Amino acid sequence: MKGLAAIAWRRGEPWSIEEIEIDPPGPGEVLVEWSAAGLCHSDEHFRDGGRVPVDFDDIVFPLLGGHEGAGVVAQVGPGVTELEVGDHVVASFSPTCGKCRYCASGRGGLCNANKDFMKRGQLVDGTVKHRVDGQDLYVMAKLGTFAERTTVAVASLVRIEQDLPLTAASLVSCGVSTGWGSAVVRGDTRPGDIVVVVGLGGLGISAVQGARLAGAAEIIGIDPFELRRTAAEKLGATRTAASIDEAREIIAQFTNGQGADRVILLPSTVTGAILNEGISITGKGAVCVVVGMGELGEADIPIDVGMLALYQKDIRGSLFGGLDPRDAPERLLGLYRRGLLDLDAMITTYDFAEIGTALADSMEGRNVRAVLVQPEKA
Ligand SMILES: NC(=O)c1ccc[n+]([C@@H]2O[C@H](COP(=O)([O-])OP(=O)(O)OC[C@H]3O[C@@H](n4cnc5c(N)ncnc54)[C@H](O)[C@@H]3O)[C@@H](O)[C@H]2O)c1
Ligand SMILES: [Zn+2]
Ligand SMILES: [Zn+2]
Repeated sequence: MKGLAAIAWRRGEPWSIEEIEIDPPGPGEVLVEWSAAGLCHSDEHFRDGGRVPVDFDDIVFPLLGGHEGAGVVAQVGPGVTELEVGDHVVASFSPTCGKCRYCASGRGGLCNANKDFMKRGQLVDGTVKHRVDGQDLYVMAKLGTFAERTTVAVASLVRIEQDLPLTAASLVSCGVSTGWGSAVVRGDTRPGDIVVVVGLGGLGISAVQGARLAGAAEIIGIDPFELRRTAAEKLGATRTAASIDEAREIIAQFTNGQGADRVILLPSTVTGAILNEGISITGKGAVCVVVGMGELGEADIPIDVGMLALYQKDIRGSLFGGLDPRDAPERLLGLYRRGLLDLDAMITTYDFAEIGTALADSMEGRNVRAVLVQPEKA
């Protein structure tokens, strides 16, 4: 079967809408008609190659983008019982097998089934089921939500309730869950905490909302883009600043010069400089959560180790916010239903064909989260 999809032919090339060929679902797979797909910065890290070593170019390109999305099951593979035609689903960049020690301990985001993320081919059997002009595609996170339809493993999909808008639901697929969980679960924000959120894109604004719900006393949102600072103020930030340096005085005021209780780092790219700045505003016995992706090859980051030890600071990584992909959609969409998590205020929709404009607007801070909608479907 055929369908339209956004393809990057080579490192750094713009998304181009192409007709692709899609093989039908086999055992353990379904065909998903995507309705809505969010633009997460991780797709950018692949398209512009910034976070992918050159050695991987032959695997990663041509690239079918998109790992944040929601859609409808259109066809099920032989023997599939977990999902039915007509089910509404959100994608998970982290598949969950339900059996490994991570899944068994509620940490499905770390599931061992994700080990072949950087390999081409389907999750179930490694075969290639998506091609453009006869060339095998690398499908982002084995999902490829920047497409009309793709064949996806059941393990990478979570069913959601039918009456939820798919546009809003698409965000809990990656950005909102990762940001929210980074403040609430990995950051472990407690009532009364002083929380700093660095980077106010789709992830950062969700971290602000998570910190607010967890009872933070003050939330300082930092981003150079004014539109995003204004959005953060509407959704829970008590103060905002354009840079960490600009925020230092406010943080010192709020903490008697001690530093913040939680610092959540979700800028487009976490450089060594940002990490060090983040650690410098983290208080004694406090937590700095690293969520954004690092600079390619920047492995030698100087950190003041004495300060880390003597001030007993925690630096924590965060994949999918420490949430479980099987738990996050229901939990977060439940908050959305109850008006405790505002997804609509974060979204600017664009027709799928307008992916170029959506990306330019995202990179220049003219929206909080761009969501591509397939006309007639969302
Ligand atoms: N760990 C995970 O599981 C996970 C999941 C999804 C995305 N990510 C990563 O999280 C990061 C954020 O993703 P996003 O989609 O929200 O990105 P985004 O591009 O939409 O937003 C990032 C924001 O950071 C701001 N920023 C850049 N440098 C800054 C600085 N020095 N100080 C303050 N703000 C700064 C930008 O202005 C922008 O508004 C990316 O690196 C992405 O790859 C990680
Ligand atoms: Zn993402
Ligand atoms: Zn598992």
